[in-house]
Amino acid sequence: MDTRSELQATVDAMVHGAKGLLAADESGPTIAKRFDRIGVASNEESRRAWRNLLLSTPGLAEFISGVILYEETLGQRADDGTPLPELAARQGIVPGIKVDKGKLALAHAPGDEITEGLDGLAKRLAGYRQQGARFAKWRAVYNVSDRLPGRLAIRANAEALARYAAICQEAGIVPIVEPEVLMDGAHTMARCAEVTEAVLHEVFDALQQHAVVFEHMLLKPSMVLPGKDAGQAAPAEVAAQTLKVLRRTVPAAVPGIFFLSGGQTPAEATANLDAMNRLGPLPWRLSFSYGRALQEPPLLAWRGEPANAALAQRALLQRSRLNAMACLGQYEAAMENAAA
Ligand code: 13P
Repeated sequence: MDTRSELQATVDAMVHGAKGLLAADESGPTIAKRFDRIGVASNEESRRAWRNLLLSTPGLAEFISGVILYEETLGQRADDGTPLPELAARQGIVPGIKVDKGKLALAHAPGDEITEGLDGLAKRLAGYRQQGARFAKWRAVYNVSDRLPGRLAIRANAEALARYAAICQEAGIVPIVEPEVLMDGAHTMARCAEVTEAVLHEVFDALQQHAVVFEHMLLKPSMVLPGKDAGQAAPAEVAAQTLKVLRRTVPAAVPGIFFLSGGQTPAEATANLDAMNRLGPLPWRLSFSYGRALQEPPLLAWRGEPANAALAQRALLQRSRLNAMACLGQYEAAMENAAA
């Protein structure tokens, strides 16, 4: 298969029905933080056990079309010896890989951050491909205040995202472009909208300059929300504000927008996605690529106990099912029927 047909086949498999992505690509320090909450020590075996549990959930492929893995997981095996990426692929869940190397302070821009990991990326991608990865993810983060993010951070992160996406496409790997405007702080929803619009505008400008094929990439943005310390907004408001920004900035050629949850509760993340999908018709498929909002309920059910595995898998499946309903805009109505 030539590279273009291969990219198209991967996009088709990922943007499929009312399905979303499971983000299970937490870095070492992040997964340690998640495990800390349930009193589990993070080591190679506990991380393998957790990710094996997630990927062997019976029926998961009904709602999940792809999984984002961390480099370590790509080389780990299920209890029966099957490589974990193969365990996903066998059920029809496309395996992907987080390829950025994390963020650090951006020089000459106090408070702003830049994501690194471009050096040697083409070579790393060739190895990940051999291990089964068909798509990749790179996350840029933007801190919000009255003056943050600055122009330099917006430009530098857009450039890095575009270079990453171009390198991926050349290697036959579908890039997920993830610019995350953080929820931390007490900023207003209007400020979040303003920052998100500036960020996305710059990201698509850079992608275009680097000749990234929009049809062969996916966007993973944050939703437009008030800062965590500024209270909450109703799903209808989040949906209206988020779609307004997306319509202004994201070309219709992009096949899918898969939101991150970014610190929303599982129920909020589902309700907000649902509200957006009730505001159609939309030029792109709107779905989920949640980490915390999908993993929190099963993690709390598991608590590191093998005996809780089935319970945890049921919790993951249920959360995935609800988000699949939100992809169709059918979640709220189903909740009301259930309550009636
Ligand atoms: P959250 O949904 O927990 O934000 O995680 C998604 C992700 O992949 C962050 O990079």
